[in-house]
Amino acid sequence: MTQHEKIQELLKLREEAKLGGGQKRIDSQHKKGKYTARERIDMLLDEKSFEEFDMFVSHRCIDFGLEKETYLSDGVVTGYGTIDGRLVYVFSQDFTVFGGSLSEMFAAKICKVMDMAMKTGAPVIGINDSGGARIQEGVKALGGYADIFQRNIMASGVIPQISAMFGPCAGGAVYSPALTDFNIMTKGTSYMFVTGPKVVKTVTGEDVTQEQLGGASIHATKSGVAHFVAENEEEGIMLIRKLLSYLPQNNLEEAPLKLTADPINRIEERLNEIIPDNPNKPYDVKEIIHLLVDDKEFLEVHRDYAPNIICGFARFNGMSVGVVANQPMYLAGVLDINASRKAARFVRFCDAFNIPLVTLVDVPGFLPGTAQEYGGIILHGAKLLFAYGEATVPKVTIILRKAYGGAYDVMSSKHLRGDINYAWPGAEIAVMGPKGAIEVLLSREIGSIEDEKAKVQFLLEKEQEYRDKFANPYVAAKFGYIDDVIEPKNTRFRIARALQSLATKKDVNPPKKHSNIPL
Ligand code: HXC
Repeated sequence: MTQHEKIQELLKLREEAKLGGGQKRIDSQHKKGKYTARERIDMLLDEKSFEEFDMFVSHRCIDFGLEKETYLSDGVVTGYGTIDGRLVYVFSQDFTVFGGSLSEMFAAKICKVMDMAMKTGAPVIGINDSGGARIQEGVKALGGYADIFQRNIMASGVIPQISAMFGPCAGGAVYSPALTDFNIMTKGTSYMFVTGPKVVKTVTGEDVTQEQLGGASIHATKSGVAHFVAENEEEGIMLIRKLLSYLPQNNLEEAPLKLTADPINRIEERLNEIIPDNPNKPYDVKEIIHLLVDDKEFLEVHRDYAPNIICGFARFNGMSVGVVANQPMYLAGVLDINASRKAARFVRFCDAFNIPLVTLVDVPGFLPGTAQEYGGIILHGAKLLFAYGEATVPKVTIILRKAYGGAYDVMSSKHLRGDINYAWPGAEIAVMGPKGAIEVLLSREIGSIEDEKAKVQFLLEKEQEYRDKFANPYVAAKFGYIDDVIEPKNTRFRIARALQSLATKKDVNPPKKHSNIPL
């Protein structure tokens, strides 16, 4: 062969690899409203930045007819490129090749990019669209999965790992995404389950569709497996790009600064009137978040799961922060099992990746009742307590209104190494709400009043007395648990300055193998 012919052969092989499982299967993928593995990478990365690895890899299995059917790339496209000029590693499963099922070599390709990502300190993005373990390969496929899991575990807290589910994700295949930091699903085209509807029917007799068992809305609202739901793949890809803009490349770096024209000393008069005079009336804490952060930009994580707590990324003066806020609009902002788990994971992510935490508190306490107690609210609530107490990133806390009971302690209080803790003038900080407190403290007196009207009057008076004495920020401020009581309209400015002052903060935990967070 001449050199020219050799080059032509290379180009032919490249074209063959790019066709994956063939034009017919590509057409069928498009018909389902899905893109191919390579089209997804092109959408995700900066133009012409993709450098592909292992295009010529194919499987080694010779069972069940696989000796006659091989495809270059073996069902997964891997390599690196840039997003907004920053290095990322990527793998994208190709459903047109054996349904994107995972073989020994497929797994080896993923492991290679994960190893490179760890060596270079860059995020890994996995696009999943797969029928799970390649059945013909048996234990080699299982071993391949475990090799990936091990790398997910080692990379956890070192480099950001993001999983997009743009198709089925069945069997053990769900566990790699579960080990990563963020899962993004698309509506109507992505499914995640440990066992599919047929197995469910055989084992439990239940009739369920794929959508009911593991569709995006189920995982966004009920299980919490999906952190984000996108209308379609384009939106999912944009979400990944946006999410990365808030994150550092790895745990030794800071998140990139994003210049803003939004002045840090912006005064927001609306904040002075946003809290209703009636302490039982809700308001939308998201409005407060939008008024506080740079350019009103807030990327909410787990939007539809446990909406009684809000978690998400925003910026102050260009600096990336994680915002955690109780939401009085839903269940009065109470802490329950799901809210505690959701926020604990978010706090730990931010801490692992040097992202300061801004906590907005308006919490009436933990949700009482047998359902919560039987479900282990003690352990789950402790997760959030643990996460805040363990976190060494800058922690700025604003008590907007209520901070009652254990929930006061949990929500980034001074006692859990909160660095700068402010309260708005209407803050109520006490062991419990006035109603409950009076019923516990004065039950005998209340019982002895026979006249109903007099009883109501007595209760109102005592509750007011309690509120005047305890339900204000000044008792906590007197002990230094609150650094200052601030005027709401100045909050953006006060938070931005607090974060600035904490930029050089150093705090360490004692040396240990790892902590034993209640699971
Ligand atoms: C080999 C597979 C495959 C698999 C699909 N294919 N899954 N090949 N191993 N696991 C092939 C099909 O034979 C078909 O080949 C092509 O991919 C497309 O599949 P279809 O079934 O035609 O597509 P669709 O109707 O869209 O259904 C997609 C699906 C279904 C829902 C994913 O294929 C399915 O249920 N697959 C099996 C899922 C599963 O149970 N996997 C094993 C899980 S166990 P042709 O040649 O026709 O294009 C597991 C253990 C891991 O993963 C444990 C790790 C801890």
